[in-house]
Amino acid sequence: MRSKVVAGNWKLNGSLAGNESLLKALLREIPRDNPVACVVCVPSPYLAQVRALLEGAGIAWGAQDVSRFDHGAYTGEVSAPMLVEFGCRYVLVGHSERRTIFGESDAIAAQKYVAARKAGLTPIFCVGETLEERDRGETQAVLARQVDALLQAYGAVGLERGVIAYEPVWAIGTGKTASAAQANEAHAFIRARIGAKDAQVAARLPIVYGGSVKAANAAEIFAMPDVDGGLVGGASLVAEEFVAIWRAALGR
Ligand code: PGA
Repeated sequence: MRSKVVAGNWKLNGSLAGNESLLKALLREIPRDNPVACVVCVPSPYLAQVRALLEGAGIAWGAQDVSRFDHGAYTGEVSAPMLVEFGCRYVLVGHSERRTIFGESDAIAAQKYVAARKAGLTPIFCVGETLEERDRGETQAVLARQVDALLQAYGAVGLERGVIAYEPVWAIGTGKTASAAQANEAHAFIRARIGAKDAQVAARLPIVYGGSVKAANAAEIFAMPDVDGGLVGGASLVAEEFVAIWRAALGR
């Protein structure tokens, strides 16, 4: 059985007061031992606050990006060993907003994945096509290119203890969701691509869906055989929504 993950991506949102009330509301609902990992990926300056509130509870935390370098003259970067010092277990890597707004290439995303794994973090590696790419029939070619960059950098065994997030760019923050069938098709393609290199790693790899996941659509998407949870942006900022999405992954 593959493990399931529901991760919230707060993006550039939060404040000390707002984070505290959101996390306290989540803590009231998410039990300490649960079969579906519940994760919040927060802006790095809040990691100390989040650790203080979540330590010992059933919610893990992580960052939204990581440097490919461990230390040195790289102004503005935050390294994987630093994230580990703040109790992070997860980190998003190669989110489409990093790729499109900040010009992050496939190769840089793959290097960040390697840096995160070497420090013992679980990277959530984001892939997905734009609307133009889908309309041109290039979805699988784009996913193959993004996944292959990772396989080349680290090999299939390097994907052990990682998570892939399939996030069609056209579904992020738009209110448009991929249909359950579209999501499953992309997930199955990604799994087969990795499976061609290592069937066991592919069979165990959690592949989560992201892109306008809400309480109202989560159960249908999460019921698909190749969908192992979700990466949730906007809806992760509302405690009741995020808890309901996490419950949908539990299957109740
Ligand atoms: P969304 O964002 O749920 O707001 O569409 C998902 C993401 O960008 O990870």
